[in-house]
Amino acid sequence: MDLQLSGTVAFVAGASKGLGYAAAHAIAREKGHVVICSRSKENIKAASARIREDVEGAKVEGLACDVTDAGEVADAVRQTVDRFGKLNILITNAGGPPSGAATDFSREDWQKAFELNLLSTITLCEEATPHLRKAAAEDGFARILMITSAAAKEPIPRLALSNTARAGVLGYMKSLAHALGPDGITVNSILPGYTKTERLEQLADASRKEDERSREQVFDAWAENNMLKRIGDPAEFGAAAAFLVSKPAAYITGVALAVDGGRTRHLL
Ligand SMILES: NC(=O)c1ccc[n+]([C@@H]2O[C@H](COP(=O)([O-])OP(=O)(O)OC[C@H]3O[C@@H](n4cnc5c(N)ncnc54)[C@H](OP(=O)(O)O)[C@@H]3O)[C@@H](O)[C@H]2O)c1
Repeated sequence: MDLQLSGTVAFVAGASKGLGYAAAHAIAREKGHVVICSRSKENIKAASARIREDVEGAKVEGLACDVTDAGEVADAVRQTVDRFGKLNILITNAGGPPSGAATDFSREDWQKAFELNLLSTITLCEEATPHLRKAAAEDGFARILMITSAAAKEPIPRLALSNTARAGVLGYMKSLAHALGPDGITVNSILPGYTKTERLEQLADASRKEDERSREQVFDAWAENNMLKRIGDPAEFGAAAAFLVSKPAAYITGVALAVDGGRTRHLL
């Protein structure tokens, strides 16, 4: 299927590695122009160079931007539009908060997690919306995709900060889909399950400290817990992301799509 992303412009946050990188890579392969951001200038420049090396003719720029800083987000979105002339696609993302049970954290920990995963999503959407409205009016094409977690629908006991912030993202996603639908902008979310990235290695190591299993044993246990009996590959996540932000996905909005190998067991 042609995703019809050629010549479109995407901004992907939290994209120097892992799931954000995979989404940006998939869009670049479909000939979309991409601006990627992360906190580290060095990491993001290296990531954009990697995509350019991998994908012939890719138009990819890397910007340093901490998504918890509203001023930096505004600058990054402005620079994207200055560089490529418009913005059709926003993908929100950031790193995950520390693991722990609901009783383990201070008020400051909760606040930081909400800033990292919930408020950053809202800030990115607010900065991008005027440009997306323009793209919807002029190109007939504008999309928002929020990267959250399978934990948003089926909380994981040791990921209390993540469970809580991401459930908030889903509430915001549905609300924004209502608000922007009349403008022709779709707003969706992907709920990744266990996917092999640095974040997953960190979570495995945190879990190992508690019960002295090897990293591989932790991964095996996670794999056993889904229907496909394996950990996901970031490229599989990237393919789903590229579809949801594509032109053929025009009638899909307000959806929280699990890309989790069947980890989520409820019916609807
Ligand atoms: N992998 C999984 O199995 C899985 C499952 C469910 C949910 N998730 C969630 O999905 C998101 C992405 O996961 P991942 O596995 O790709 O994580 P990752 O490997 O830790 O990558 C996170 C990316 O976000 C960037 N980043 C972190 N904090 C940032 C900030 N404040 N501003 C801008 N960029 C920031 C990092 O780059 P810099 O360090 O350069 O800033 C990096 O590029 C996370 O929130 C994670 O918790 C992941």
